[in-house]
Amino acid sequence: MKVMILGSGGREHALAWKFAQSKRINGLFVAPGNGGTKAFATNLSDLDPTDSAAVVNKARELGIELVFVGPEVVLEAGVVDALNAAGIPAIGPEKREAQLESSKAFTKQLLLKHNIPTAQAKIFSDVTTFNAFIDTLQGMWVIKKSGLAAGKGVLESSDREEIRSFGLQALKDDSVVLEEFLVGYEVSIFTVSDAKTYCILPPASDYKKAHDGNAGPNTGGMGAICPVPWLGKDMLQRIKEELVAPVFKALEAENLMYKGLLYFGVMVTADGPKILEFNTRFGDPEAQVLIPRIENDFCTLFEAVAKGKLHTQTMHYSDKVALGIVIAANGYPGEYRKEVPVRVQFSNHDENRILFHAGSTHKDGVLVTNGGRCFTCVGFASEHASARKFAYSLTKEVSFEGAWCRSDIGANLYNQN
Ligand code: AMP
Ligand code: GLY
Repeated sequence: MKVMILGSGGREHALAWKFAQSKRINGLFVAPGNGGTKAFATNLSDLDPTDSAAVVNKARELGIELVFVGPEVVLEAGVVDALNAAGIPAIGPEKREAQLESSKAFTKQLLLKHNIPTAQAKIFSDVTTFNAFIDTLQGMWVIKKSGLAAGKGVLESSDREEIRSFGLQALKDDSVVLEEFLVGYEVSIFTVSDAKTYCILPPASDYKKAHDGNAGPNTGGMGAICPVPWLGKDMLQRIKEELVAPVFKALEAENLMYKGLLYFGVMVTADGPKILEFNTRFGDPEAQVLIPRIENDFCTLFEAVAKGKLHTQTMHYSDKVALGIVIAANGYPGEYRKEVPVRVQFSNHDENRILFHAGSTHKDGVLVTNGGRCFTCVGFASEHASARKFAYSLTKEVSFEGAWCRSDIGANLYNQN
């Protein structure tokens, strides 16, 4: 089977790594890919993954039988719509369904309409109504830009004027969602849907804040863990019954034909689990710890998803736990320099450790940085402490000027928040 993966991050490296293990693979392409995927797949460095026509043409030229979309910007650009129209099987929702991530206003309306637990909220698209409401505001609130904002579209604050100023800026080209501040702990629940049935993958959790102790600014994720030791079986069951099942029922009722990964961002509160947001794709770095635990052949699994035959598949997971630590560039999540030379000592032949590249590329034959989050070091073991030890030992085998990582990923297993 010939497979093309769209994207260039650690998530796409993990996807490519997994597809490469399939006995059925006879052509693996990543567009544009990174310095790690180049070692075992063909990087299509010049292909812009958000350019629908270019992706369709390239897929036809190469005889691609399955396209797997990594990042949300590709979905929002309508690339899956174009692939489906061209008869090329694709994993990822079309633009309409991708609104579950690309429009927080759309999602909030859907959740409230179907009485699915979420933070109570108001949606604004006009400045006068927004200002009048803010005049009466008290306490802690969360304000969100409705559209995609690469992790920078959310402000939690009790300062009325700070909320106002964030909202007025966002209202210049978008609507905003203002919602109650929920207290609890977060967990990421990944589901796979073929638009007929769905399955729930093992829960994972990422570490969103830049610094140790969950301090500092939000990032795309500085580490991840799978499964989640602080999420008990009973709460997972409640999440399945109170959130996941009603959401898929609501999608069916609204005629939203969802094919691909649907990621539920959940806050477990004293009042029970509530939906914070959806992502219409695998998380990054959650994919780097989740995918190595899935034992199914990805060609077979996702061919079934593409054909609407997910019900024919039985999922198999490793009993091992996985823990991932992101190595970032100096300055991330703010400004950072690229093209910093990288030295990797790790040989990649180790059953307990996996190095996934993200912001890396080759320049004149030398491995250099090419982004803010540059690598994910994954440790894989029968229990968390060893997985953590393996992952941290791997961080020592990747070096470049200014490289840094959090030192407390997986340190406090039962009380992360
Ligand atoms: P979102 O993109 O909607 O998931 O928001 C990004 C992050 O902001 C979440 O992962 C939470 O840490 C935080 N957040 C979002 N909504 C809320 C809320 N209603 N209450 C508390 N924290 C929130
Ligand atoms: N790690 C969070 C995300 O992928 O959105």
